[in-house]
Amino acid sequence: MTEEPRLVVLISGDGSNLQAIIDAVRAGKLAAQIVAVISNRRAAFGLTRAQQIGIPTHHFPLKPYRDEGRSRQAYDAHLADLVAAYAPDLVVLAGWMHLLSPAFLDRFPGRVFNLHPALPGQFAGVHAIQRAYEAFQRGEIDHTGVMVHRVIPEMDAGPVVATAEAPIYPEDTLADLEARVHATEHRLLVEAIRDVTSNE
Ligand code: GRF
Repeated sequence: MTEEPRLVVLISGDGSNLQAIIDAVRAGKLAAQIVAVISNRRAAFGLTRAQQIGIPTHHFPLKPYRDEGRSRQAYDAHLADLVAAYAPDLVVLAGWMHLLSPAFLDRFPGRVFNLHPALPGQFAGVHAIQRAYEAFQRGEIDHTGVMVHRVIPEMDAGPVVATAEAPIYPEDTLADLEARVHATEHRLLVEAIRDVTSNE
């Protein structure tokens, strides 16, 4: 019995995408194991979600490095040391809100994946769903979507692994669209991890 693919998940917030992975593993829909969850924010509820089921967690903030005048590369390199100790097959960025430099990425070549709530080439960066909503109101787009991509130093721009569209309706509030996009993310992230781990 070979060991199931080892996932380290990096989060910054509520962790609903982490929860989608947890639920899929528990339901036998994803042959993988989450071996650690790391957040840059202590208050991230995703840490609680992991702790509730005994997954090792770490709070690894950037602020002490900034306060001590240490470089972003130093933070990224030490974060990579922490992640590498878990021997991950995949590093999944599920709502991780920091850019990662080659000091991190080069430690896990081709194995860092990011989930972004927009279609390839659209709305890179923060508040992607709100920006899509506003673009719809201006008549510039008639739908949005989500993607999972391999991470490169450029933000939200690496080779796309999976993508899914999400419709926008005229009667949508922003909250309606956010709920639809997040539900699409939860499905797509599990599918993307399944695809990548089964193709290796
Ligand atoms: C998700 O929309 C993710 O794509 C974006 O931030 C959100 C995090 O949500 N980067 P959660 O923490 O997984 O609930």
